[in-house]
Amino acid sequence: MAWSLGVPKESLPGERLVALVPDVVRRLVKEGASVRVESGAGAGAYIPDSDFTDAGATITDRAGAFASDVLVKVQPPSDEEIALMKHGGAYIGFMRPLDAPDRARRLAAHGTTALAMELVPRISRAQKMDALSALSSIGGYRAVIMAAMHLPKFFPLLTTAAGTVRPSNVLVLGAGVAGLQAIATARRLGARVSAYDIRDAAREEVMSLGAQFVELEIEMGDMQDSGGYAKALVEEKAKQQVELLVPHIGKSAVVVSTALIPGRPAPLLISEAAVKAMAPGSVIVDMAAANGGNCALTKPGEIIVTHGVTIIGATNLPADMPVHASELYARTLLAMLLDFTNENGFTENLDDEVFTGSCVCRGGEVVNERVKKLLES
Ligand code: NAI
Repeated sequence: MAWSLGVPKESLPGERLVALVPDVVRRLVKEGASVRVESGAGAGAYIPDSDFTDAGATITDRAGAFASDVLVKVQPPSDEEIALMKHGGAYIGFMRPLDAPDRARRLAAHGTTALAMELVPRISRAQKMDALSALSSIGGYRAVIMAAMHLPKFFPLLTTAAGTVRPSNVLVLGAGVAGLQAIATARRLGARVSAYDIRDAAREEVMSLGAQFVELEIEMGDMQDSGGYAKALVEEKAKQQVELLVPHIGKSAVVVSTALIPGRPAPLLISEAAVKAMAPGSVIVDMAAANGGNCALTKPGEIIVTHGVTIIGATNLPADMPVHASELYARTLLAMLLDFTNENGFTENLDDEVFTGSCVCRGGEVVNERVKKLLES
């Protein structure tokens, strides 16, 4: 019996991605899924309903898409959306499980088996399911393009008949997936790029992209956890870090900050003193804005000018590139769907570490230990 797979239109203001694109729908229809796409779901990514029907999907209303056996989404489901979901169905998509654990409780109460894309383990086998990396990389690229648009100067060295223009200094704070893409993009635009991260492993990656690694004189120890993520610094060292970064930020025309620690507010790296140390006209793109920001003056979702510096509180950069962002995200969902569904629909696989790692709730209960702990505290 064909099982239904729902693709709703995203309801978060400004979200322009769609969870599945026609090529991926075509593949899933071949696998036996009956795909129901909410009318207009692809509009933000310039995909008309007719492209989905050509791929074998049915266009439905909102209720029809949500009432499917398996639901895929980009943004975590709202309370109103959870109420529309099929009782006992499955959900695969972003959930922000460590920032908003209550949603996991509501999904569990609804009988949903939910897999959070944020919790897909970062093991080689699951690289094709790594939605965080796919979207972070897009964000890193877009952050630099935005910075270049707002900067009243050139990025590259330019030799003209009227004289020589010196290249701009770009500093990238946090050299994970987004940071490394920001470095590569700024380098392609010809800037002089330096970068900083608290994980030792980042040094080599930064240097291999032709950027300089900023060394701060703080005794850190190993700041990388077993999952490859950064650990939080103790308060005194965090303060030292902020102070030692001031001169490096001060000599930069552009700072792109991407530093995050899973399940915690973003670390403060750019103080007001550091902003004041920058030349008027400089630009900060704070990619951690949605998690509180790396800059003390960031206003999430806003572009402000303070002390002559433009501070961009970027909360959803992939939404500015909905075509490629939807394509890449859809492919990570396809990889999940191929592994966790068969001709009869969704299948739980408790022997699979991708399944157990990303599963937040099943059987009416929250099963992820970190989320459970957050709910108890
Ligand atoms: P993220 O988005 O959680 O954080 C971004 C960056 O901020 C990280 O590099 C982190 O070390 C850095 N950071 C945190 N606190 C900081 C502070 N106080 N000062 C300076 N930098 C700070 O990380 P992301 O981009 O998701 O990557 C985390 C790790 O996972 C990386 O080691 C990455 O290479 C690894 N990874 C592995 C993959 C795989 O094997 N399949 C795929 C993607 C990433």
